[in-house]
Amino acid sequence: MLHSNLTINNAGHLMLGGVDVVELAVKYGTPLYVMDEQRIRENCRLYKKAMREHLPHGSKPLYASKALCYAGIFKVMKEEGMAVDIVSAGELYTALRAQFPAENMYFHGNSKPDSEIEYAINAGVGHFVVDSMEELEKIDMHAGRKRAIQKVLLRVTPNIDTHTHKKIATGTIDCKFGTPIETGQAEEFIKTILSKKNVRIDGLHCHVGSQIFDEQPFCQALEVMVDFIAQVYSKTGWTPEYLDMGGGFGVRYTEEDPVLDYGGWIAKIGEKLKEACAEKGIPVPALLLEPGRFIVADAGITIYSVTGVKEIPGHASYVAVDGGMTDNPRYALYEAKYTMLLANKAKKPKTYTCTVAGRCCESGDLLGENIAIQKPVKGDLLTVLTTGAYNYSMASNYNRVPRPAMVAVKDGRDFLAVRRESYEDLIALDTL
Ligand code: LLP
Repeated sequence: MLHSNLTINNAGHLMLGGVDVVELAVKYGTPLYVMDEQRIRENCRLYKKAMREHLPHGSKPLYASKALCYAGIFKVMKEEGMAVDIVSAGELYTALRAQFPAENMYFHGNSKPDSEIEYAINAGVGHFVVDSMEELEKIDMHAGRKRAIQKVLLRVTPNIDTHTHKKIATGTIDCKFGTPIETGQAEEFIKTILSKKNVRIDGLHCHVGSQIFDEQPFCQALEVMVDFIAQVYSKTGWTPEYLDMGGGFGVRYTEEDPVLDYGGWIAKIGEKLKEACAEKGIPVPALLLEPGRFIVADAGITIYSVTGVKEIPGHASYVAVDGGMTDNPRYALYEAKYTMLLANKAKKPKTYTCTVAGRCCESGDLLGENIAIQKPVKGDLLTVLTTGAYNYSMASNYNRVPRPAMVAVKDGRDFLAVRRESYEDLIALDTL
């Protein structure tokens, strides 16, 4: 199986984290997201251990909650000792409601509305990752009103091309995030922050992209960042306590994707950092890393019911399911590849090649093309693997389709993490 938390039981049913997913579909209905909480915790621990072993003292991981955001995940992150990256007051509110400490939050985003800046400062958010001069001015003003000093990191663009999908590459000079180093704007920005009374700059941030399969882009970005730090140090005497290298570690969606040695990557990143800092004669900053996908992707699956099979001889075979782009827009957006199977026929060979169609009135509403599964009939449980990241968090109500429930499994038990949206929920905001 693609991930070690997936097995098949004697009945020939798919199991996730030791729980029969066919039974979950019967109990909770479909479509259904299922998350393996133990796997989420293991992923946090693996990451923390590698960082502890290979990175400077004080280095820490921040879970990028955009990958999967619901109240329960913040409880898990708190218990696992993770800090979190948030990108909106909505994520902030969710985290606060789950009693996640504001001090351990890093507020990202290239376009934070004034109201959200004020809200975050009043909530006591630990760090802002500043993305624009306008934002800096607002932070300084609100922190001043509170008679507080707000800690910030500055997001810069190291101009690294990652060869990932262009919609998820974020480190190039012309991207909407961050301040470019090359143009001299980042250096000027730091000088401005240093002149502010109510803001303290603790570090620098960059994020080169997402779903990256080798450590090269991170090492290249590190080199650029360390050069930049040395340049700023020589001119201002300021040196960062933290260097935040963002997220982006790729995960396996299909058997063709490489098996990655994440610990080895972190070790190489650590070596590169020490080497580059020694060469430039600057103090070694602690590293922050922001894994999102890595923490939750392989912990999740989505179970659908097959609603019908349509064969157009010589053209196409469609297997239609009761969900689609509303619960997983990633094929529609990025042509993202997934592994699928019929959970109730998991032991049978995958002899059928098809296009998996969602239910929306939109030809592009597909979950995949050229997908191999067991021979399907209506009522089978088509299951998509590795859907823990950027599925629920990117779900919508297009066509007024209610969002699925999310169930978590742990120690062989299951519990509801997010209840299914009802029709009443769908009209809750409408005035009649
Ligand atoms: N830090 C920053 C500043 C980010 O922008 C992101 C992701 C992360 C961390 C986490 O990256 P990860 O470790 O998950 O790769 N919706 C797309 C992915 C967009 C990623 C956005 N930023 C997808 O479904 O592939």
